Amino acid sequence: MTSAIANIGRDGAHGRVPEHVAIIMDGNGRWASQRGLPRTAGHRAGAKSVRSVVEESVRHGVRVLTLFAFSSENWRRPRGEVSVLMELFMSTLRVEVQRLVEHGVRLRIIGELSAFSDGLQHQFREAEAATRHNRRMTLQIAANYGGRWDITQAVRSIARDVSAGRLNPDDIDESSVGGRLSFVDGPDPDLFIRTGGEKRISNFLLWQSAYTELYFSDLMWPEFDAAAYAAALNDYARRQRRFGLTGEQVAANANVVVG
Ligand code: IPE
Ligand code: IPE
Ligand code: MG
Repeated sequence: MTSAIANIGRDGAHGRVPEHVAIIMDGNGRWASQRGLPRTAGHRAGAKSVRSVVEESVRHGVRVLTLFAFSSENWRRPRGEVSVLMELFMSTLRVEVQRLVEHGVRLRIIGELSAFSDGLQHQFREAEAATRHNRRMTLQIAANYGGRWDITQAVRSIARDVSAGRLNPDDIDESSVGGRLSFVDGPDPDLFIRTGGEKRISNFLLWQSAYTELYFSDLMWPEFDAAAYAAALNDYARRQRRFGLTGEQVAANANVVVG
């Protein structure tokens, strides 16, 4: 409950910028098909929206931005599409790392990374290392990520600690699970955005989205520009987050300044 109150205090009632934004970048394939282009052209076009949303997040003062780039289930796509996505990862990382450094953005890649090629894993580590001192914002790219995978690996780690005698089962609480998830130390996502018109979570944030505000845009990801992002942030700013409290309690708490 303390953290819920703290969240309300931090967010206050007006002018709120979400501390952590998480985005499902969906609709690349349909954007391309609508233009008679191959789906892979949509992925290339989507890379531009990534750059814009990263820079706009820094400008708006977002502290953590999590982007869903490739789900555990996306391996099931045609092989050609998967390999274009892998090439795009490589080439985008190569080009963008310097820009991230210039903008003060620290990069983290989360997910079951052992499934990627050695070359790509190496590049992930290099990109993380090159940006690790940056403090303005953290950009988390979820790659081969699945919410169920994340909870499962947390449970596996708890089981290991119990069997090694390091953890008493009676001491397992929510923070034992939450603290072992692959997300960065920091707040759960405040705002979740999904483009492309579908209204589902698709195995993205399961544990962490317990109290996340959901926002769905009908724009395809390559069309999601700075103005569309600002509209999502404005929509968030107008919402009242109650965390189980009454609206009156929230209004009273909004005047309390919390650390
Ligand atoms: C999202 O766009 C990108 C990835 C899943 C990698 P899609 O490729 O899912 O685009 P649609 O949903 O088929 O239009
Ligand atoms: C979710 O999009 C995953 C990413 C954007 C990386 P999908 O296009 O894979 O989701 P579904 O299959 O339509 O639910
Ligand atoms: Mg899709």
